[in-house]
Amino acid sequence: MWPKIGPVLVAGNWKMFKGPHEARAFATRIRHLPERLPGVDIVVCPPYVSLHTTVQGLGEGSLVKVYAQNVHWGLEGPFTGEVSAPMLAELGVSGAIVGHSERRQLFAETDETVRFRAEAALDAGLFVIACVGETEAEREAEETEAVLARQVGVLPHHERLVVAYEPVWAIGTGRTATPEMAQEAHAFIKSLHDAPVLYGGSVKPENALVLLSQPDVDGALVGGASLDPVSFEAICQAGAESVAAAA
Ligand code: PGA
Repeated sequence: MWPKIGPVLVAGNWKMFKGPHEARAFATRIRHLPERLPGVDIVVCPPYVSLHTTVQGLGEGSLVKVYAQNVHWGLEGPFTGEVSAPMLAELGVSGAIVGHSERRQLFAETDETVRFRAEAALDAGLFVIACVGETEAEREAEETEAVLARQVGVLPHHERLVVAYEPVWAIGTGRTATPEMAQEAHAFIKSLHDAPVLYGGSVKPENALVLLSQPDVDGALVGGASLDPVSFEAICQAGAESVAAAA
């Protein structure tokens, strides 16, 4: 169903951390990690200014992929502060995150702009991680499924698109969805969209294996715990253990 991804995808979202030097050192350190962890696709998502040194640090043969944290829908034009999908591809970047809740909440991203960004990235040959997830207030008001249906409903169907379920109340808070909550949301998303679904929200080495062992959890989008190479490697290792256990 998703020929170029999986069985498990672990993506580190570095957010606004790691300038070019630090990113290169991290990349150099993890460049051979996938060879030790069969079945785990490993992605890092540096800030724009660090994409180039990350690609360089990984070097030609590395199986680790580099994604941007966002992408504009135009090819070029008067869009100050934006970066297009062909520009990313030219740098050796393989994909982009779209619709992260921080973009939605702090930078006025809408379902419509998320769709535009996803379509442009796919058109340029990039992979896409499209983020969805409810806020705490929406969960308490029992609107989780309605919110997910709205956010997932706009996403294109494409073999290079994966969805990331990131309950907003679990991001950067240390509060993780229980494995049962994650499984329930992932199954719901998969009833709407034929795509792998990553879980994101306070994933760390201690909880990664139980989350990744849920039948409909196909990987993890990791923020804070991806910044330290030791904890990032431990989460990737948990991915390999979940693959081995499922075999
Ligand atoms: P977190 O972030 O792991 O720090 O909660 C996840 C994300 O925002 O992608």
